[in-house]
Amino acid sequence: MHRRSALQWFGSITAGTVLQPSATLKALGNSYDNSKFQIDQLNGASGSEEDFWLQIRQAYSVSASIINLNNGGVSPQPRVVQEAVEFYNRLSNEAPSYYMWRIIDQGREPLRDKMARIAGCQADELAFNRNSSEALETIIFGLRLKAGDEVVLTKQDYPNMINAWKQREHRDGIVLKWVNFNFPIQDDDEIVSAFAKEFNSKTKIVHITHMINWNGQLLPSKKIADKAHAMGIEVLVDGAHSFAHIPYSIPDLGADYFGTSLHKWLSAPFGSGLLYVNKSKISKLYPLFAGGDPESSDIRKYENLGTRSFAIEQAINHAIDFYEMIGPERKYNRLYELQHYWTEKVKDHPNVQINHPINKRYSGAIGNVVIKNKKPEDLASFLFEPYKIHSVAINWENIHGVRITPNVYTTKHELDKLVKGILEFADSK
Ligand SMILES: Cc1ncc(COP(=O)(O)O)c(C=O)c1O
Repeated sequence: MHRRSALQWFGSITAGTVLQPSATLKALGNSYDNSKFQIDQLNGASGSEEDFWLQIRQAYSVSASIINLNNGGVSPQPRVVQEAVEFYNRLSNEAPSYYMWRIIDQGREPLRDKMARIAGCQADELAFNRNSSEALETIIFGLRLKAGDEVVLTKQDYPNMINAWKQREHRDGIVLKWVNFNFPIQDDDEIVSAFAKEFNSKTKIVHITHMINWNGQLLPSKKIADKAHAMGIEVLVDGAHSFAHIPYSIPDLGADYFGTSLHKWLSAPFGSGLLYVNKSKISKLYPLFAGGDPESSDIRKYENLGTRSFAIEQAINHAIDFYEMIGPERKYNRLYELQHYWTEKVKDHPNVQINHPINKRYSGAIGNVVIKNKKPEDLASFLFEPYKIHSVAINWENIHGVRITPNVYTTKHELDKLVKGILEFADSK
């Protein structure tokens, strides 16, 4: 975009957003205002990669009060997605049973085809639901396991999933075999052999968290899956944090079953998720919400969720458009670049400990940092006051640090504030 048109466009959208103090900004005492920086950047606009990302930032309703570096929790939606939700919701409210069930409902099959394009699988292997927890619990509770059957999982998996497996252990007498990692690990063989050590003739399924939410560690899913499949063990992949973050096709992970949240890296509406079941496995996996024939091989049997927001589901279309507009490789490269940018500036300080893998093969946007002999929550508090950086302190199974997660709308200027905050805290007594 040429400088002049970029400025006109920028001016028209910021008038209602960044430059106008919001109620929250007033409440927080106007402690963070990045509008000046953005204008300075655009004055130098030259069609560079940084300008592209600055324009992507304008597509989001970024907070003028805080710097959100906890995109590892949930992602915001670009305005086009927010507007689509509002539009479909208003339409639904004109006559819900007509517009939701007869009109908007017609959009699910085209959406399934479109999703299959970015997921790299067949459309009839994908079901829409509300989040990763729902997708993965459909699998965990739908598998035909009996007392004594073994499941291999890790201490670093997501708590909802661990709790679901523990409930099956309690209810059905299955046996959980735990792998306990000391991340970061930048060695495929070390990770694969830790899983493989737990495999035996009683093992029925391995649970792989593709990207560990606590520190962004990527696991070599395909290599673990190959080992499992060679012994007749099925593979469940938790793709909550990797989908639309790292470019891949779901089948390339070696997954028989896969679940993700679309409100994380796809930036789809809050409460949107996806279940993948390999075509040959659908008839044997029970749905969580019964609907007709439980042995049907139609993926739609997992969508019998009762009344829910069809507005949210349809607006996923707009999130896919936005994602494809950026491009999967370009997005991943940027996310890694942002993580690398701040990591490089703090990692050599003697009091700083980096808890995420530095190598791009094993990481993306998510990082985790701690100051030696200090509590993660104290660093997180220090970053919020005075820098207004929102992050999250993590204390979970061998991982202790502050998780830092930028997103496509994050600027390097914001990361410079993060770096300043981390180094100041590292130097403090
Ligand atoms: C690895 C992992 N799995 C599952 C989930 C559950 O996601 P949701 O809360 O969207 O169901 C999360 C959420 O952060 C996660 O990080």
